[in-house]
Amino acid sequence: MTNAEDVLVEKLNGLAPELAIVLGSGLGPMAAEVEDAVRIPYGDLPGFPQSGVTGHAGEVVAGTLAGRPVLLLAGRAHYYEHGDAAVMRPVLETLAGIGIGKLILTNAAGSLKPEMPAGSVMLITDHINFSGSNPLFGEPSERRFVGMTEAYDARLSAALKKAAAATGTSLHQGVYMWFSGPSFETPAEIRMARVMGADAVGMSTVPEVILARFLGLRVAACSVITNLGAGMTGGELSHDETKDVAPLGGRQLSKVLKHVLREGLFDD
Ligand code: HPA
Repeated sequence: MTNAEDVLVEKLNGLAPELAIVLGSGLGPMAAEVEDAVRIPYGDLPGFPQSGVTGHAGEVVAGTLAGRPVLLLAGRAHYYEHGDAAVMRPVLETLAGIGIGKLILTNAAGSLKPEMPAGSVMLITDHINFSGSNPLFGEPSERRFVGMTEAYDARLSAALKKAAAATGTSLHQGVYMWFSGPSFETPAEIRMARVMGADAVGMSTVPEVILARFLGLRVAACSVITNLGAGMTGGELSHDETKDVAPLGGRQLSKVLKHVLREGLFDD
């Protein structure tokens, strides 16, 4: 066991969640709903990154949510903070090491479709890695050649769709394109992204999906839409807007996730 695994197992004190959820922008409030919560700042977990991005406090919150044991990652580190696409690798390795088998990733994203406006939620069905980077650069083992044909788990995704239907939540589906950030895209990049087959753009998640598949975790991911892509409306984009608008979709996504947990829809 690595150090972080030791610390985590000790603090979890017998709780053995099989599911972890990365809380992106807008999902933060879910951490406050965890019952009998154990909170562990990333700083206490060796190798865990410190995120300086406002709205992304770094702590593990483990406990019971909608009647199920879960481990929430409140805050993630981004490629654009460090220039290191593998910045989340120690986190995901630790999760895999303590027996987490399923990972749900959430993020805030810009939409490329006017019919999927701010406040919408999108299930990510596939992605385009447009960053030019990869978290497995330098990985020496042959395991680096990770198949990505079915990166987004069909059964976990089906459970999210079922929960959305049951809770009356409109759940869009689409392809997420990873831009490195931290600058937002230009209007020309947004037009290009549309032509290339993307439905939403964002600055996270894809490296975590690649790492999770490398580590054998099953993954599903959802975006909360905070804006239309650059140039699609008159206004300039901003991180303040992302933070202000993300809770709109975040509340809906949180409702869907809690339904999945309550009904045990991730159990198979
Ligand atoms: N682009 C990239 N990342 C984002 C956006 C966007 O328009 N909105 C929220 N995160």
